[in-house]
Amino acid sequence: MATPELRHMLRDDDLNHEEQKQVLELAIKFHNNRFYHQPFAGPQGIAVIFDKPSTRTRSSFSIGVAELGGYPLVIDKSGSQLGRGEPVADTARVLDRMAYGVVWRTFGQDRVEEMAKYSTHPVVNALTDEFHPCQILADFQTIAEHRGGVDNLKNQTIVYLGDAANNMSNSYLLGGAVAGMNVRVAGPNGYLPDPQIVADAEAIASETGGSVLVTTDPKEAVAGADCVFTDTWVSMGEESEYSIRSKPFWDYQVNADLMSYAKEDAIFQHCLPAYRGKEVTSEVIDGPQSVVWDEAGNRLHAQKALLTWLAGKARGDESLLA
Ligand code: CP
Ligand code: NVA
Repeated sequence: MATPELRHMLRDDDLNHEEQKQVLELAIKFHNNRFYHQPFAGPQGIAVIFDKPSTRTRSSFSIGVAELGGYPLVIDKSGSQLGRGEPVADTARVLDRMAYGVVWRTFGQDRVEEMAKYSTHPVVNALTDEFHPCQILADFQTIAEHRGGVDNLKNQTIVYLGDAANNMSNSYLLGGAVAGMNVRVAGPNGYLPDPQIVADAEAIASETGGSVLVTTDPKEAVAGADCVFTDTWVSMGEESEYSIRSKPFWDYQVNADLMSYAKEDAIFQHCLPAYRGKEVTSEVIDGPQSVVWDEAGNRLHAQKALLTWLAGKARGDESLLA
């Protein structure tokens, strides 16, 4: 037995390089054997809370926790006291006495941090305004599976285009730096990442052998890339900005012309939901370079791996880490 260690997954750099590799190796094992580990047999309950809509995250955590032998208690904002303003700290202390972990999709990153502060079980960020770390694990698992394994992630060149100030952009910067990748993000002025996130990513990349490029030039960003990512130009909570946000991003649309600057065998990913004709053309997302269905399916395996790994750390049970 190792020393028990309470760990949370609130942002992508909560795992270091070796730990991220461990989780991704485990994700591939779960892909090959859906019932590889059942750490929550009992069943132990995991609270899965949604303050924003979801299809993939809801289904992958609900089915995933059940496949891990546990019971997913899925709570929506409209059906909980959190939605009526009950303090996060109070909710955290109640759930902590019943559930063996909390998975939460919400607005500000401060909310998941507050939940973790009052929890003695792992807390997982299932998307905040700032980060979407579970998506990044699934995306990197998908690259690993298309590129001959987790060891080959290092030095892959990945590019994210569009709203470079959003949660996906931040998560690619941090998660890609942790993986030792060459991470590029491109978007228009006014939609570039927070300099603090870029500085954090650069500091991590200097340790892992990766690199970071932030640019307004979409062709420079895509040149020679191994994997091209995009996301909606209007994230959840920004719906009132729809008409303003329709304008600045057209040069960053992922279409056949922009894809032609990437490597010939480059793959395309999108966290979904996708808006065809906006951030990506149907020619690309429905074309031969797109691996978006593999990517969506990997949410299940990657998150099961993450929950298992966090349970292994919390219990000091090293058998759950591999
Ligand atoms: N990619 C993703 O998180 O999808 P959902 O919003 O459907 O969960
Ligand atoms: N940036 C998007 C991701 C959706 C999975 C949003 O936050 O709405």
